Amino acid sequence: MDIRNCQINLNHWYVVARSSEITNNILPVTLWKENLVLYRDNLGKINALEDRCPHRQVKLSAGKIVNNNLECAYHGWQFNSEGKCDLVPYLTEKQKLPTCQIKAYPVRELDGFIWIFPGEENHQEITPLSIPEWEHLNYIATVSMIEFKGHFSYLIENIMDMYHGHLHNNYQAWASAKLANLQVNEHQVDAYYEAESYYKIDKIWSISQLFFPALRRLHPEPLNVSYLYPHWKSTLGKDFTIYCLFCPVNETLTRAYLIHFTSLNAFWRLHKLPVWFRRFIKNSLFGSAQKMLDGLVFEDVNMMEQEQESYLTNPQLKNYELNPTIAKVQQLIYEQSIR
Ligand code: FES
Ligand SMILES: [Fe+2]
Repeated sequence: MDIRNCQINLNHWYVVARSSEITNNILPVTLWKENLVLYRDNLGKINALEDRCPHRQVKLSAGKIVNNNLECAYHGWQFNSEGKCDLVPYLTEKQKLPTCQIKAYPVRELDGFIWIFPGEENHQEITPLSIPEWEHLNYIATVSMIEFKGHFSYLIENIMDMYHGHLHNNYQAWASAKLANLQVNEHQVDAYYEAESYYKIDKIWSISQLFFPALRRLHPEPLNVSYLYPHWKSTLGKDFTIYCLFCPVNETLTRAYLIHFTSLNAFWRLHKLPVWFRRFIKNSLFGSAQKMLDGLVFEDVNMMEQEQESYLTNPQLKNYELNPTIAKVQQLIYEQSIR
């Protein structure tokens, strides 16, 4: 199996954008070599169409939204949310609307993200990964975008192999990881590491550990990472939960969103405060781990792009692998790709 050329399994929900990226604009996105265009109708509902005008095959994303239709920039043909031609401005009385049809994708807006189902199977039977912390008042979120020139397998291998803490010395995320248990089924790989964390969020001022290294003290915490194909979730002790939502663009380009949650569960006093105030705290602290998260991403991207480059120049070179998690991750990618 050549893992670096594996396809994605299209019959899953993938994330293509953050909700905040689409207001009344038109957003072109690419998911596994398919070009899509996203826009909101006047009720705020997101639509996702193939980014192609069937008249002359130009991009619909260069057009504009007119009465909830997408109007092509070239001759002004309009398409509705089902991808059917709805209006041709110069249609004569004797002419009928062309029956052309472009693909309309199942789309959902959930937990601050736009999810697309690119496959042919029944999308109702498959649920997108849920991120309950996004709305929950006890969690503070930070979002970082990952975009790197490489196959998505490099990213999932990077975040499933916690021995790479070595790389992140400057950002002190975790230390001394030791793989303690590995569980696998046809949908997921769970790896449990015994590790040490620098952070303990048990007082409200503990949040400042995110900014001041001198306040951090190493202590043991379980570090769990799960490949919930095609996405990823991790917890470090009780204080941190991280998700990685994948949008593989093609074999050599991957986008993903990393969402870091700091838990306020330890502050029971805080939970007695009025909801509006708790929401205010949640919103004001949004992005408090930004520097750390972006720093980690920058270091990882550098390594993953080197891996991809090296693979393209010398595909025959074999890696030496000591972490059994990697083989399981690769096997899952392969099995999902031939489903
Ligand atoms: S190419 Fe789109 S309307 Fe002609
Ligand atoms: Fe990393």
